[in-house]
Amino acid sequence: MKIVSRIKLPIEKEMELFEKKFSASMSSKVSLLNRITHYVVNRKGKQMRPMFVFLIAKMTNNGQVNERTYRGASVIELIHTATLVHDDVVDDSDRRRGFFSLNALWKNKIAVLVGDYLLSKGLLLSIDNDDFDLLKIISVAVREMSEGELLQIEKARKLDITEDVYFEIIRQKTATLIAACCAMGARSVMASDEEVENMRKFGELIGTAFQIKDDLFDYGNDHIGKPTGIDIKEQKMTLPLIYALNNATSEENKWLINSVKNHNKDKQRVKEVIAFVKENGGLDYAVTKMKEYQQEALRLLETYPASPYKESLELMVNYVIDRKK
Ligand code: IPE
Ligand code: IPE
Ligand code: MG
Ligand code: MG
Repeated sequence: MKIVSRIKLPIEKEMELFEKKFSASMSSKVSLLNRITHYVVNRKGKQMRPMFVFLIAKMTNNGQVNERTYRGASVIELIHTATLVHDDVVDDSDRRRGFFSLNALWKNKIAVLVGDYLLSKGLLLSIDNDDFDLLKIISVAVREMSEGELLQIEKARKLDITEDVYFEIIRQKTATLIAACCAMGARSVMASDEEVENMRKFGELIGTAFQIKDDLFDYGNDHIGKPTGIDIKEQKMTLPLIYALNNATSEENKWLINSVKNHNKDKQRVKEVIAFVKENGGLDYAVTKMKEYQQEALRLLETYPASPYKESLELMVNYVIDRKK
């Protein structure tokens, strides 16, 4: 059996119902919007965040979920989708989930508005049902994601990123949303504050590993459903390059920075930079760091008794770093 199917086994029923509710949560009276949201729903992603919500809710509550859990999962996926729609505008990226991105098909104007629409639908789903505790968790994540994307742009302009700042960027732009979905899963079934915090931390750790993996994909040539090799073009310096910079001679350093600053659209030059990073252990270093976060996340699960949900969560932690897309 495929690993994702195995992970989903104990939450099969929930994921099926979730998909229906999620699709319904996007509906609008505006026909252009409906056409676009159909396009979005039909090209679903890995749905890792809802999977975390259900697995954690069930692990912390003897296998029981409730309507709040479903709404929490929908809110998270709505907001995740909204940020991807905006992210593709920001990154000027024309592919997502193996198809054209919204900005590629409908242009930036429409993509920005559709992203706002999905974001508002997510927040309203919590508000209309008085899920204010869940709303608070998600709103913090939304703020952090915007800050993270902007910090990333600031660093791409100044090209003065350090490893610490890299980790702060990925914590904000990616890990906080995964942390939020893990916290919400526990919170939705009224787990204790301590348990919610434990799950938030678990999500932050695995979310960090997740983004390191995403940044590693950019150095490869695998078909992952979205473009690779665009980070340097966008002057986005990620962990492999930061490591290479930190360990290069001052001459190599100048060449690297000059390449990213003035030759980032030159395909041949970008290839040379990528080769340099690989030869100088940048990818190996990033893989080592990613595994450290993975191990720390696994440790946080140790206190829970054995259950199919815990087992799936452990598989999921490993899937985050072994995944092919
Ligand atoms: C992509 O997230 C955005 C990042 C935070 C790297 P996913 O890889 O979970 O996206 P989908 O939903 O599966 O497409
Ligand atoms: C992740 O950033 C997107 C957000 C967290 C908003 P990236 O720009 O690295 O993600 P991909 O590679 O486009 O999915
Ligand atoms: Mg992007
Ligand atoms: Mg990326």
